[in-house]
Amino acid sequence: MDPQSTADVAVVGLGRVGLPLALSFADRGLEVVGIDRDAGRLGAIRDGKMPFEETDGQPLLDRVHAAGRLSLSERVADAARARHIVLTLGTPSFSHIEIDMRDIRSALDDLLGVLAPGHSLILRSTVAPGTTEFVAGYLSKHRGFDIGEEVFVAHAPERIAAGRFLEEIDTLPCIIGGVGARSGEAAAELFGAFDAPIVQTTPVQAELAKIWTNILRYANFALPNLLMMDCERYSANVFEVIELINRDYPRGGIAQPGFTAGTCLRKDFTFSEERSAAPGMLLAVSRVNESVPLFLLEGAKRRLGSLANRKVAVLGLAFKANTDDERDSLAHKLIRLLERELADVAVHDPHVPTPTASFEDVLDGADVVVVAANHSEFRRPEAIAAIAERAGGECLVVDPWNCWGAAQVFAYASELVVLAGAQSS
Ligand SMILES: NC(=O)c1ccc[n+]([C@@H]2O[C@H](COP(=O)([O-])OP(=O)(O)OC[C@H]3O[C@@H](n4cnc5c(N)ncnc54)[C@H](O)[C@@H]3O)[C@@H](O)[C@H]2O)c1
Repeated sequence: MDPQSTADVAVVGLGRVGLPLALSFADRGLEVVGIDRDAGRLGAIRDGKMPFEETDGQPLLDRVHAAGRLSLSERVADAARARHIVLTLGTPSFSHIEIDMRDIRSALDDLLGVLAPGHSLILRSTVAPGTTEFVAGYLSKHRGFDIGEEVFVAHAPERIAAGRFLEEIDTLPCIIGGVGARSGEAAAELFGAFDAPIVQTTPVQAELAKIWTNILRYANFALPNLLMMDCERYSANVFEVIELINRDYPRGGIAQPGFTAGTCLRKDFTFSEERSAAPGMLLAVSRVNESVPLFLLEGAKRRLGSLANRKVAVLGLAFKANTDDERDSLAHKLIRLLERELADVAVHDPHVPTPTASFEDVLDGADVVVVAANHSEFRRPEAIAAIAERAGGECLVVDPWNCWGAAQVFAYASELVVLAGAQSS
């Protein structure tokens, strides 16, 4: 049965996940309704401007505009115009270590009155285990639907990394966990628009698979970050120890240190932690990653003394390399900590929407330079040469990313220029 469809799919929440998805459906020939309560965002999309960076996102938006297959609305109830409704709303975490489902609940309440037999509701957002069954139960409780027979509810988690959407939508296995007999099938009909293999499972397994994909990454980076702190304690070189661990060793390898954060990694672990069999274990992982900015600041103080009234240049505000996404970035935490030391903080980031000073201005006269995000602009040999020239050879450079292959978390610019030169020759 088909509800009174005038579109194939509605995507509710046109953020970093929802907008590329909506555009990709339209690009495959589907009629799409894109819904967001943020009028500014809708305005930008209507004007044909990608509201954030996504690789090849702008040409995709241009194509979809030209084809006229995306209509936009601020009203969630308009989603009922499509048979498939995909929720790509934010799911933050409360500080209580608990999923914040307010956006999902609000959208469900807006949809309750307009859902009809034949509709298929797909949760694309990352959710705590049990949420998909909750959504199905909510629709049954309030509308009496037989889920899996009349109305379909499934979880199809987004596992694509920002910046790689268009590359990964056709390759990453699409996990689908449907409630009842036919919900998985209904969701697969929609996601069959892409070339990626579809893997059917239960709703809770789909939820766990997504959360634990991110927990694995979060823990994977906590280990080298903790090792970096251990190395400082023992006057050892973390990059040399990592090389010793990994070289010609066939059983796995340790990652590199860095700032590990961002809107997903910082909160997805809490969806497991809220009912964990080992409460605290993942919180400890989080504490390690969260303490990296303080560790770097303390390391600079050990070498230079007080940072009060000293100029500290922070390179990068984004939460990871080559993105304009600043949400939950540890660079912001570092800046807050530096300000509490009464340092004079200057910031440069060529990607983010927050206005920052020029690369040259932040380096001029800097006592310390911290590479907070390893954007490709900073990884070039010219960048370390510019630091040495503008800030001077005595400037302390803090680089947990090993941007120039010099293998020093803390080093003076004059040393780094020599070490980086030796690497590149
Ligand atoms: N960003 C990523 O790289 C990524 C990757 C994988 C999974 N996820 C998950 O996907 C989900 C969405 O993440 P995101 O980064 O796209 O979030 P986002 O905050 O960028 O986008 C959410 C959008 O939903 C809109 N919105 C919120 N409530 C609404 C409502 N009631 N009605 C209409 N619009 C509403 C907001 O205005 C916003 O534009 C989250 O669960 C996240 O954990 C994100």
